[in-house]
Amino acid sequence: MSRKILVTAALPYANGPIHIGHLVEYIQTDIWVRFQKMCGHDCIYCCADDTHGTPIMIRARQEGITPESLIEAMQDEHERDFAGFDIDFDSYYSTHSEENRQCSQTIFERNKAAGHISTRDVAQAFCQKCQMFLPDRFIRGTCPRCRTEDQYGDSCENCHATYTPLDLIDARCSVCGEPPVQRESKHYFFQLGDFTDQLREWVNGDHVHEQVRNKLDEWFKQGLRDWDISRDAPYFGFLIPGETDKYFYVWLDAPIGYIASTINYCKQNGLHYEDYWCHDGAEIYHFIGKDITYFHALFWPAMLMGAGFNTPTKLAIHGFLTVNGAKMSKSRGTFINADTYLKHLAPQYLRYYYACKLGPGTEDIDLNTEDFVQRVNSDLVGKLANLTSRSVPMLTKKMEGRIGSLSVEGKALINQLQDPAENIAQMYESRNYSIAVRTLMSLADDVNRYFDQRKPWSMINENPDHALETLTTTINAVRILTLYLKPILPTLAGQTEKILNIEPLQWSDVDKILENHQVKPFERLIERIDPEKVQAMLDESKQQQAESQAEKDPSPLDTEPLADEISFDDFIKVDLRVARVAKADLVEGADKLLRLELDLGGQTRTVLAGIRQAYQPEELVGKLMIVAANLAPRKMKFGVSEGMILAAGSGGKDIFVLTIDEGAKPGQRIH
Ligand code: MSP
Ligand code: ZN
Repeated sequence: MSRKILVTAALPYANGPIHIGHLVEYIQTDIWVRFQKMCGHDCIYCCADDTHGTPIMIRARQEGITPESLIEAMQDEHERDFAGFDIDFDSYYSTHSEENRQCSQTIFERNKAAGHISTRDVAQAFCQKCQMFLPDRFIRGTCPRCRTEDQYGDSCENCHATYTPLDLIDARCSVCGEPPVQRESKHYFFQLGDFTDQLREWVNGDHVHEQVRNKLDEWFKQGLRDWDISRDAPYFGFLIPGETDKYFYVWLDAPIGYIASTINYCKQNGLHYEDYWCHDGAEIYHFIGKDITYFHALFWPAMLMGAGFNTPTKLAIHGFLTVNGAKMSKSRGTFINADTYLKHLAPQYLRYYYACKLGPGTEDIDLNTEDFVQRVNSDLVGKLANLTSRSVPMLTKKMEGRIGSLSVEGKALINQLQDPAENIAQMYESRNYSIAVRTLMSLADDVNRYFDQRKPWSMINENPDHALETLTTTINAVRILTLYLKPILPTLAGQTEKILNIEPLQWSDVDKILENHQVKPFERLIERIDPEKVQAMLDESKQQQAESQAEKDPSPLDTEPLADEISFDDFIKVDLRVARVAKADLVEGADKLLRLELDLGGQTRTVLAGIRQAYQPEELVGKLMIVAANLAPRKMKFGVSEGMILAAGSGGKDIFVLTIDEGAKPGQRIH
């Protein structure tokens, strides 16, 4: 029976480019949708850019453009990147759309009418200079627990304490550097607790993976708290009905973007979105990353329940991408944007590799660059594509490109490939792609073994019938393997269909066989990965991040008010000297500091410098830099610092120490 399935992937934020971490999700989802379509189901893939919120507003302001033109440009980029990876949406829309505005209002108003929305005053950090309330991420200050400087307003990266921005010591607006004040304003709250029983019941239905259910149980135990769904002006978003300076919080209208995107699809195809969202009979699948589980497993179904919409059939929740065993890192070059990848490598490699790694659970998945090269080259190129490139050219050159009929032995092998079709389908359905790939690779091994044993290349002259039999079997095998792989590698499948001269493969075609059939000339399918290209991609990413950071960080002059004037005599009092780094060490317990021993040509100084996130101690030893040598020693938590080195940047990883290449002597004075 044909199913009607609406599939979504999380809506990417419009304030940044698509990177290979995102692609785990969009590729995983695309594979699933392609599989369903191959099975003949009515399945649509809807997505959109997530466009609202403070970060986008601020970024547009900094770039001197309107948020509308910023999100438009980002959307173009995102759509181009997705297309580059063969990710095929039926609708790619925007949360900044009329459909989304209306739908957000409807869902809000229905929940309000049903008594699930309340208002109350909330005290929050407010920047008087910027004239805005500051989200936690826009406040920086010293952690009240461990005293690490320059932490966000909600949590400390060093000791992992969580707190409110009001607890921060020496809090500052990260836009303008002013200390915020506390100010009250009215906020709207969605009473999540009203839905506790309904949500528990929903969670216990078969809608989430059991790993997720356990996590949800913890949240239920803690009790479901009211959710603040409003933000004060200035904000980029939708006004709340009846208000002139209050907006829906971005996370309220973001998931509603799934509905808006469905409406967009339905308008273009003469359909009714209610058939997906309100009536019985359609399934709703949301693919998301584990970081946004709370929104999708609690807030979202509750909002839908409160407004009388269908709730999701399934949440398909995946883990995070690591590269070479670690979080994607800008400084290591493993924070790779989609377009950078595409400059160096073919999209199919990554689709294939992710499929090799993906299962139904929420474990993180690792992209190991060596394993990536090895698997693609040995499996995809060596085992699969090679079957086509070894058989088709032989057939077209020596047999006029025509296969014969299957022998008994050939039929047996083909049956052996057809038998697991149901199982493989089940693996796709349950998102066990890694097992599907393993299964079909072992089938490809069988076919390669058959081919190698029968040596058609040497039989072709002495026993052409024998060779033709082999090629007929092999080409039938290629057809079935291609069918199994098609959701993962649609381009390779399309090329192979063209060479085999067959119609686009559907899942049910697995039972067919090809006999007495004319194929087309061979065309190159897929190249091996040259490991140097992987390195070039990493190098470029590293380079790019350094450049974009330098560009993006507003210079302090733009943001901080100038200090009081000083005289030249005051300035000259600072004794700047060339210093050679004699020793550099980590400081135990301080993840931002390095302890530097500086040689000033006879004198030594110990300086604690906040550059650990940007430099490894080893790379500094022997370097010449400039130190303010006559600063009074300062006692810090981790020891006494006897000077400061000159550096520029906004902090964290983005610090650039001023180094001197040559020609200066330690101790020399700089004027
Ligand atoms: N805008 C929200 C989602 C709103 S859905 C109504 C958002 N955007 S995001 O751009 O940060 O992330 C989009 C999706 O990509 C999320 O599901 C997220 O989990 C996923 N990923 C982002 N980085 C990822 C990795 N490094 N690894 C795997 N998935 C990652 O969240
Ligand atoms: Zn400010």
